[in-house]
Amino acid sequence: MRIIRTIAELRDAVRAAKLDKKSVGLVPTMGAFHEGHLTLMREAKQNTGLVVVSLFVNPTQFGPNEDLTAYPRDEARDAALAVAENVDILFAPDPAEIYPDGFATTIHIAGLTDVLDGASRGAHHFDGVATVVAKLFGIVAPDVAYFGQKDAQQVLVVRRLVRDLNLDVRIQAVPTVREPDGVAMSSRNVYLDPAARQQATALNRALEAAAEVVEHGERNAATIEDAARAILADAGIVPEYLELRTADDLQPITVLAGDALLAVAARVGSARLIDNRLLRVS
Ligand code: PAJ
Repeated sequence: MRIIRTIAELRDAVRAAKLDKKSVGLVPTMGAFHEGHLTLMREAKQNTGLVVVSLFVNPTQFGPNEDLTAYPRDEARDAALAVAENVDILFAPDPAEIYPDGFATTIHIAGLTDVLDGASRGAHHFDGVATVVAKLFGIVAPDVAYFGQKDAQQVLVVRRLVRDLNLDVRIQAVPTVREPDGVAMSSRNVYLDPAARQQATALNRALEAAAEVVEHGERNAATIEDAARAILADAGIVPEYLELRTADDLQPITVLAGDALLAVAARVGSARLIDNRLLRVS
């Protein structure tokens, strides 16, 4: 595996692979790899000829009071894990390579980013995500890019970015990878002490409780949300949001009809965790 830090060198490597008729898969990450990240890498390895994993803790998607400086960083560990997944290139640029002096462009995706995590963290978050992902697509020029369903709103934002800017890349979403007790894997789980780690199981249990009432025929959105809220309350969790919205464009729902996304964010111990579940009714 090559570790590449400059855009010029990365472009040379990709150009050579494309001359070799290899398809290019990109897995954008901020590091602190866990089984979720590794699953995306495996998916890329199975389906593309050159796998590029980017490792960049993107400052523009963090708010002033968020965990940018505390965000877990261990490049040597991440590189070893990527080698074990047969990743071809780890692209780990310095911030100045991505945001040189004079950088002035921001991509804002209206509507989709006004709700859920966009409302809760502020518009800067998805502006930062859309901008860095657009740059990574411009730098790597991948045929396919892999994103986790764990960040369901991020997948929708990236799909809209690709559609609206006619970017020539296919977006592949990968199901959320969970710990045996159901907790969604997250780089931020390292912030959880044992009590908070136990409390965190309530997020997925709440989503499952909602799915269960839907299976039993419930279609009223508020009632479905309440089933989830009750589990959170039992665990002493007050969510930042817990909302049922349409799965394709995050519109509010009063009566469940098509595919819906139940999304939750909550502070658990010293971590801010998110999780979601697709609810399908025909
Ligand atoms: P990061 O949080 O490092 O996540 C990198 C990718 O791994 C994302 O696509 C995310 O959805 C996926 N992922 C995280 N946890 C997962 C899990 N439990 N199961 C499946 N996939 C999971 O998301 C980002 O970085 C950044 O916003 C980024 C897209 C890199 C832009 O900076």
